[in-house]
Amino acid sequence: MNQSDIRELLKGVSIFSAMDEAVLSNLAGLVVTKEYPKDSLVFSQDDPGDAMFVIARGRVKVVLYGESGREVVLSVFRAGDFFGEMALLDNLPRSANVVTLEAATLIVLQRDTFRRYLEQHPSAAFSVMAELCRRLRKADEIISNLSLLDVYGRVARLLRELAQTDGEEIEGGGIRIRKRPTQQDIAGMINTSRETVSRALSEFQRRGLLDLQGKTIILRPQFYRESGA
Ligand code: CMP
Repeated sequence: MNQSDIRELLKGVSIFSAMDEAVLSNLAGLVVTKEYPKDSLVFSQDDPGDAMFVIARGRVKVVLYGESGREVVLSVFRAGDFFGEMALLDNLPRSANVVTLEAATLIVLQRDTFRRYLEQHPSAAFSVMAELCRRLRKADEIISNLSLLDVYGRVARLLRELAQTDGEEIEGGGIRIRKRPTQQDIAGMINTSRETVSRALSEFQRRGLLDLQGKTIILRPQFYRESGA
């Protein structure tokens, strides 16, 4: 890629788009581009951070590896996105691994170039913060979904236990829990709020896994197959 290609590309990236031609030309002269085949490791979690990257071509994934090698993909970035800014801003090691999903061309800004650029152009620093906020909001949403799922699993497990100790089989399949605890009691037993229990029960009912009848609950055969308990 020549310098004017790089300048054009930077223009399309949120944190550079408000800059005039002279600033972008100057920046384009300070960066290098690097080619990566598919499935290459751009950097590993815990590496020291010496540069940030803008994607000119291809896609990458931001990934953590669990103990058993299980992958947790935090995000996928594509042309026009940037990554690797965190270690340059907080001076800590890389927070995650980045691996190419296809052949990729990356524009590399060295630490000093990036930091100086932000110091000289506060509006670009605000753009970086806006992008960090966007990523945090997305992460918040994922955390909220995960912890809700976790609570649904706990509600389901408790119902299964109650069915074992206080349940009777009913005609046509399923088990009736004769005296169901109140939603408040269930909430206390699994350390969550009454509102969350109410949402979980409604969701199970909506999916046809159980019926709430007066003071009893009927767990349908599907409950045992699909509730995740
Ligand atoms: P850095 O910590 O330098 O290296 C890994 C990069 O992955 C990080 O900077 C961010 O650019 C990116 N990253 C880390 N966590 C997330 C996340 N939750 N969502 C999106 N991008 C992330």
